[in-house]
Amino acid sequence: MVGTTMVEGQGTRVGFYATTCRRAESIVRATVQSHFTSDSSIAPGLLRMHFHDCFVNGCDASTNGLSWPVPTGRRDGRVSLASDASNLPGFTDSVDVQKQKFAAFGLNTLDLVTLVGGHTIGTTACQFFRYRLYNFTTTGNGADPSINPAFVSQLQTLCPQNGDGSRRIALDTGSQNRFDSSFFANLRSGRGILESDQKLWTDATTRTFVQRLAGFTFGPQFGRSMVKMSNIGVKTGTNGEIRRVCSAIN
Ligand code: HEM
Repeated sequence: MVGTTMVEGQGTRVGFYATTCRRAESIVRATVQSHFTSDSSIAPGLLRMHFHDCFVNGCDASTNGLSWPVPTGRRDGRVSLASDASNLPGFTDSVDVQKQKFAAFGLNTLDLVTLVGGHTIGTTACQFFRYRLYNFTTTGNGADPSINPAFVSQLQTLCPQNGDGSRRIALDTGSQNRFDSSFFANLRSGRGILESDQKLWTDATTRTFVQRLAGFTFGPQFGRSMVKMSNIGVKTGTNGEIRRVCSAIN
C-alpha cells in the first residue's frame, strides 16, 4: 500500500526496485495521489481490494484485473459479496471465527481489530445491515440491541424498511473521509454499521483493543498491521510473473 513503511526481511521492502525501476515507488504514489485528488472514493476501493487480494491467494494481485468484472472483483475496486465465501471473513462470522481466519495468515487479534479499522473510510449498502434495524428482536424497538437507540432512528431514516437497498451509507459515521480513530470511538458508543464491526466491541476479547485504538492515532499501528497483511504469500525470486498487461496473465 502506498504510504506504508515496508520492513526489511519480510518479503517486501522500500527500495526493492532501486536498481531495476528507480522511480517505481514515487510513480505509484504520485499516480494514486492524482487519482485520489480527482475522486477520493478510489481510496476505500483500493484498500478493500488489497485486503481481499491478500486473503484469497496471498498478496499477488490475482484478484485484480483477471476476474474483472466478475466474479470476484469489480472495476470500481469494490469486491462483490459473492467473493466473501471460502476463507475470506464474511460478515456473518463470529469474532472467534474471524480471529481464526486471521491467525491462519499469521495475523493476531490486534492486527484483526486494527485492520478492520480500515472501515474508517468507505461505505456499505443499506441491504447489508438493514436487518439490524427492523424485526431483529421481537421486543424493544425491534433493532439489534447492540446499536445505540438514538442511532437506530437515524439509521432507519437513512435506510427505510422498504427503501432502496443499494443506497450507500458511511461505515464511520461523521468521519467517512478522514483516516482517524473515530471508527473505534463509534463502536464504543454503539454506532457501528456492520454487525461484524459492532461485535468487536461486544466481544470481550476484542473490546480492549477497540478501547485502546479509540484512544490514540491508530495510523502507526495500522501501518504495522498493513505491512504484515501485505506480506501474506508474497511471491519472491522466480515465482509468479510480472504482467506485461496488468489485467491479463502473460
Ligand atoms: C474481518 C473482516 C472484515 C469484514 C467481515 C468486512 C466486511 C465488509 C463489508 C460487508 C463491507 C461492505 C461492502 C459493500 O457494501 O460493498 C466492507 C467494506 C469495506 N471494507 Fe471491510 N471487512 C473486513 C475487513 C476489512 C479489512 C481488513 C480492510 C482493509 C484493511 C477492509 C476495508 C474495507 C473498506 C475500505 C470498505 C469500504 C469499501 C467501499 O467503500 O467501497 N475491510 N467490509
